[in-house]
Amino acid sequence: MDTAARPSTPKPAPAYEGAALRRRADEIFEATSPYPGAGFRNHCKRLFRLTSMLMAKRRVEFDADLAYFIAMVHDLGIVSEQDQGHNYLERSRALFHRETASITLPATAEIIDECLLYNHRLLPVPNLSAPAECFRNAVKIEHSHGLLRYGLDRAEVKALFDEHPRDNFDRVLVDFTWRTIKREPLTIVHGIFF
Ligand SMILES: [Fe+2]
Repeated sequence: MDTAARPSTPKPAPAYEGAALRRRADEIFEATSPYPGAGFRNHCKRLFRLTSMLMAKRRVEFDADLAYFIAMVHDLGIVSEQDQGHNYLERSRALFHRETASITLPATAEIIDECLLYNHRLLPVPNLSAPAECFRNAVKIEHSHGLLRYGLDRAEVKALFDEHPRDNFDRVLVDFTWRTIKREPLTIVHGIFF
């Protein structure tokens, strides 16, 4: 029988594999971030750990490797040259989906999108999913340098900040602000506040 004539069965999406997802997140981060130093990388790692601590405290079920991936790419829309979107949050989401298009992920696209689009939202977001609310609260802990903690232990938060020091992150934040004001000033109103 001529097997070449047989219709090919569609290949299933590659199985999700957590360690590979983390490695890929690190590779994407290193290839996309234009900043020297550990500041930006440590910011993302702190965000991951703070989010994980909130999820554990609130008993929110969410895959840890996926949370790591989201945390590592959550700001890359600010500096990505190849992703589209009205603001950097949408570009981070576009980057996420471009990089994971061929992978079956352990969460719905809707929840992942909420984590990526609302993490920097200052005002409450009605009906936000529990994982996305953990990311949003973790951003506030991060940017308040641990003054806000949402019930997390002060010593544990301090230990995390010590483990992943700020390094040059203040300089990176100045560049983030400059890029946002120059390229998409409305994001500050529409995206961060509302
Ligand atoms: Fe951030």
